[in-house]
Amino acid sequence: MSTQYNIAVVGATGVVGQELIKILEERKVPVGELRPLASARSAGKTVKFNDTHIEVQELTPDSFNGIDYALFSAGGAISEEFCPHAVKAGTVCIDNTSHFRMDPTVPLVVPEVNAADAHKHNGIIANPNCSTAQLVVALKPIYDEVGIARLVISTYQSVSGAGNEAIFELEEQSRALLNGQELAPEQFPHPIAFNAIPHIDKFTENGYTKEEMKMVGETKKIMGDDTIAVTATCVRIPVFICHSESVNIKTRKKISAARVRELLQAAPGVEVVDDVANNVYPLPRAVSGKNDVQVGRIRDDISQENGIELWCVGDNLRKGAALNAIQILEELIK
Ligand SMILES: NC(=O)c1ccc[n+]([C@@H]2O[C@H](COP(=O)([O-])OP(=O)(O)OC[C@H]3O[C@@H](n4cnc5c(N)ncnc54)[C@H](OP(=O)(O)O)[C@@H]3O)[C@@H](O)[C@H]2O)c1
Repeated sequence: MSTQYNIAVVGATGVVGQELIKILEERKVPVGELRPLASARSAGKTVKFNDTHIEVQELTPDSFNGIDYALFSAGGAISEEFCPHAVKAGTVCIDNTSHFRMDPTVPLVVPEVNAADAHKHNGIIANPNCSTAQLVVALKPIYDEVGIARLVISTYQSVSGAGNEAIFELEEQSRALLNGQELAPEQFPHPIAFNAIPHIDKFTENGYTKEEMKMVGETKKIMGDDTIAVTATCVRIPVFICHSESVNIKTRKKISAARVRELLQAAPGVEVVDDVANNVYPLPRAVSGKNDVQVGRIRDDISQENGIELWCVGDNLRKGAALNAIQILEELIK
């Protein structure tokens, strides 16, 4: 019989946790025991996995006995506290939160870009921020061909990036507004329905948000190149699933839009959707539920010599979180 692995999902009732369980099933990962873990509030609820209903257990320091791999997505504070307990129990952690991402002893991995780094772990591997994961998949083939000097990114991020409660808030606010009422925001600093909020995570001293600074630091770490200049503006928009990004790339050597299109057509994890004559380009509603990152609107930047413009859309719950984590797991067990 082939080897099976005991897998814990920490945050199993959350929007990422649910997607993790769905993708473990979809990709037929050889799971022996699946152990769903969440807070005391969820203990006793069940999750469905391969036609069985498995009871959610409360996360405690002893939750990892007999577990080979733990997929964490219950917030940074939970990972900070519980990953060390898991590592002590001999469990390898794949962490979806930002807590360990910039720790130099923790690999930060997007398998299409730096799969080999996954094997250099000391018990913890970090999964990048959702906006960064989809971005680097599209950048890697261009980087390998001509190098990248600078990136200017603007994001249009869906509410599911902020979890279950945020999805509910967009639904409720939209319904209320269409009925002539206004509901006070709870998950976002301003109403999200019919709005665009240029503020994701906290502001830092340099005027950028933490979300923007995550894109800056994580892109360089995953690409393994500190010399790439990166600037980003991250915006929350009233879309349920999928983050969209306008990406301006200054390459080190000249490359044509036609060559970029060709490279991306052959790239793993990327689907080129680019036929403007027929109004065809990546859209969040079309990419939702898909594994590949879609790229379109690929064109030469008319404002500079070595410049490329593109539009990139990825499912933030899949490539931006759960799928990438499971690809890391697959890399470790292959
Ligand atoms: N959403 C995304 O696109 C995305 C992408 C990349 C990374 N992430 C990261 O993934 C993490 C989870 O995000 P999410 O969007 O799935 O959030 P979510 O829908 O709000 O789910 C949060 C999960 O964490 C659990 N949890 C909360 N407090 C806990 C505690 N004290 N002990 C044990 N479990 C606890 C919750 O369990 P209960 O149901 O019991 O409260 C729930 O399962 C966050 O760190 C987020 O930054 C999210």
